[in-house]
Amino acid sequence: MLSALLRILLALLFMMIIPQKSDGQFEQWCIADEQTPDDELQTALDWACGRGGANCSRIQRNQPCYFPNTVKDHASYAFNNYYQKFKNKGASCYFNGAAMATELDPSHNTCRFEYLP
Ligand SMILES: *[C@@H]1O[C@H](CO)[C@@H](O)[C@H](O)[C@H]1NC(C)=O
Repeated sequence: MLSALLRILLALLFMMIIPQKSDGQFEQWCIADEQTPDDELQTALDWACGRGGANCSRIQRNQPCYFPNTVKDHASYAFNNYYQKFKNKGASCYFNGAAMATELDPSHNTCRFEYLP
């Protein structure tokens, strides 16, 4: 009983602290961790673009983020799109350890990695 209450209080505290920490201080993007194997990135990419709800239209053929056509680059785009879209609703840049946060804008040429406050 008490431990359940404590857990709820801790969860609430957690939710209050995280947004403040990342709020407006510095911009962060979410990208694929270089050390994650391609098969794991592919699984996370498929999830992000599917049930995750990321908008992956820009990594389709003939779209600005199709090149470089690698699992790592496409996963980075999808992870970031998902993260920016849902971070204010509690989403994290994690993907079972396949993702990492960066303060360097990963945008290149006409492929823009959005950042939302
Ligand atoms: C996905 O992104 C594309 C390109 O920005 C946009 O045209 C499209 O409306 C978006 N789709 C959804 C479902 O938000």
